[in-house]
Amino acid sequence: MQPLKGLILSGGKGTRLRPITHTSAKQLVPVANKPVLFYGIEAMAEAGIEEVGIIIAPETGGEIEAAAGDGSRFGLRITYVVQDEPLGLAHAVLTAEAFLDSSPFVMYLGDNLLQGGISELVAAFREHEPDALILLTPVPDPENYGVAELEQAATGQTGRVRRLIEKPTEPATDLALVGVYMFTAGVHDAARAIAPSARGELEITDAIQHLVDSGLRVEPHIVRGWWKDTGRLEDMLEANRLILDNLVERIDGELIDSQVDGRVVIEAGARLERTRVRGPAVIGAGAVLKDCYIGPYTAIGDGCTIIAAEVEHSILLAGCEVCDLDGRMESSLLGRNVTVRRGERQPRAYRFMVGDNSDISIL
Ligand code: TTP
Repeated sequence: MQPLKGLILSGGKGTRLRPITHTSAKQLVPVANKPVLFYGIEAMAEAGIEEVGIIIAPETGGEIEAAAGDGSRFGLRITYVVQDEPLGLAHAVLTAEAFLDSSPFVMYLGDNLLQGGISELVAAFREHEPDALILLTPVPDPENYGVAELEQAATGQTGRVRRLIEKPTEPATDLALVGVYMFTAGVHDAARAIAPSARGELEITDAIQHLVDSGLRVEPHIVRGWWKDTGRLEDMLEANRLILDNLVERIDGELIDSQVDGRVVIEAGARLERTRVRGPAVIGAGAVLKDCYIGPYTAIGDGCTIIAAEVEHSILLAGCEVCDLDGRMESSLLGRNVTVRRGERQPRAYRFMVGDNSDISIL
């Protein structure tokens, strides 16, 4: 088999994560202080993939290129492919056709996280050599996903994919499509053959259905670990929880009259004074925390300043300033360089989703 290439989809609009996505790519929002996108790139490197194409949008592509670079620090080569408009996942595949050429490839949605990476499914793809391989995971609410129906197979085996249905009202199975797929070059013809869906996009589910209907072999691969699509705030916070749960404790910053419990990472140059951190939590490089309580499942970005405040179950991007809160800030996502400071009247808890460079005074 030809060497596998990688295709990471990092364009799109990100409407569900506004206002963060007004100024920045959602794939660069950090989970446990590392951009979501980097988990996908690292998974590709781990699976031995050397050539990766990243689909970018004209508005946010520059920022993604600046962050991921030529790929050398991940041990692979990155080629950027601009998709002028987000016309669907199958449209993104067609946009990358020149880059992909006749190679088989792994396609990975740039805002998705897959525990355990992709090495196992790359091995399954190499071993069985199907025309396409799709990842599936059982979910409690299949009506909210693309759902796969499988053919009956011999006992103990999984049958081929028979049908894919987007958000079925009466799902035939609980097997949802995960945002990672493996294709051979035949998918390009399938993507050309389909028409845009009701929402005006070339859907990857339609392209895969076209492969099935053409008699090609589409195999399912059931994911064992967790999978997370970080398209919404709740999902982003959950992804942050899942990653922080496996944190390995490391204290490189400075602790002055401060206490740290459980799995906590304090990066170099961070300074904590009279502060308590209950893990799992990560405090970014150069952050300054004074008289604070940082609760479980919190990721504080580089260079944040937090004074006399309690923060829990939240993601703060780099350069935020949070000062003098009586109540606890929880389940929040603050963009870059956001300032939150106290006024006269104080509620018991705060919940924010705030875009970059905002300034909030609670009066
Ligand atoms: P989605 O989350 O389905 O779409 P979106 O990013 O536009 O977000 P929203 O629904 O909140 O408006 O996209 C999944 C991934 O694929 C994401 O990383 C963006 C990327 N993508 C492209 O690169 N090109 C496209 O045409 C589309 C639709 C998505």
